[in-house]
Amino acid sequence: MNKEQLVESARKMKQNAYVPYSKFPVGVALLLKDGTVTNGVNVENVSLGATNCAERTAIFTAVANGYKKGDFQAIAVAGDTVDFLPPCSICRQVLAEFCLPEMPVYLTNEKKEILELSLKELLPYAFTDLDM
Ligand code: THU
Repeated sequence: MNKEQLVESARKMKQNAYVPYSKFPVGVALLLKDGTVTNGVNVENVSLGATNCAERTAIFTAVANGYKKGDFQAIAVAGDTVDFLPPCSICRQVLAEFCLPEMPVYLTNEKKEILELSLKELLPYAFTDLDM
């Protein structure tokens, strides 16, 4: 699956987002190294802090299906935003737990442009399992 297809998969997923409170749908497509694609959407809750972002939904689903650190090849994030929609800071930290710093992160906007970053660019100086 190429970059454009992965972004399109993220875009399509937005229709499954559960967003009665924010009305801000987010869709994610996560490419695994074996070619599998795992998707995620944001799932909100009337207790707003219980909301789960689309990125974490996708990562947690992959982990639940047996994928491990190093199995992740790329991630695409899509919203209905004018600007490129980046993962929130909590999701960046979760990505850093399972994905390599060089992993490509594809962001898109309502014009369907794609901005490619590495996870390291999104989250420099990440807190990971540092040596002591
Ligand atoms: N959201 C995501 O799903 N991913 C992000 O990276 C940014 C924020 C969701 C959380 C909430 O449901 C809505 O977008 C508005 O913040």
